[in-house]
Amino acid sequence: MNIAVISYSYTGNNDMLAEFVAKGLSAKHIKITAQRPVTMRTIIMDMLFARTPEVRPATDVITQYDLILFCGPVWMGHVASPIRAFLRYLKSNPQAYGFLSISGGADGENKTLHRELLKRTGKKPVILLDRHIKTLISKGSKPTRNDTSEYKISEAEANRLSEAAVKEINRLSKHLLNSATV
Ligand SMILES: Cc1cc2nc3c(=O)[nH]c(=O)nc-3n(C[C@H](O)[C@H](O)[C@H](O)COP(=O)(O)O)c2cc1C
Repeated sequence: MNIAVISYSYTGNNDMLAEFVAKGLSAKHIKITAQRPVTMRTIIMDMLFARTPEVRPATDVITQYDLILFCGPVWMGHVASPIRAFLRYLKSNPQAYGFLSISGGADGENKTLHRELLKRTGKKPVILLDRHIKTLISKGSKPTRNDTSEYKISEAEANRLSEAAVKEINRLSKHLLNSATV
């Protein structure tokens, strides 16, 4: 199965996760970059006004892959805006996709992610893994939004989180291959 890991990252966590996931799956890793500088202000404006920023590479770079694994942060309960153009592209294209995230989790679960992905792409993700930084910060304390947003995961943490994702995706891709050949 031809898999691409497409990542966007503002502070580096999700790019690092994506790197390990791609390595674990021997998949191509493609990083999304925004055409205009991303700041806290542009993030909030994108979220409030449902903007889709212009990004590189062009969305049709994913055409040749059977499974697209997006990796990116959650912002204000939503998938980070630079991934939106790719999600929209999937609406008229047949590929299976998944969404992996290392998000903060300071306010609990990001409950509407599945619904948002379904709405943006017109189909369910084959995998949705939202891992929280909150669980990486010392047990017993209650990290604030600031604590989680400032946290940079280590290579060891990214590697460990990627292993669970890779295992699940390997299991899934066998299933997807079987259903494609029936
Ligand atoms: C403006 C902003 C809003 C955020 N909103 C959420 C949120 O709603 N839920 C959540 O779990 N994490 C939230 N976070 C935390 C990020 O998802 C987290 O820091 C993530 O690991 C950043 O990923 P990156 O390093 O790949 O950019 C937010 C961070 C920022 C900067």
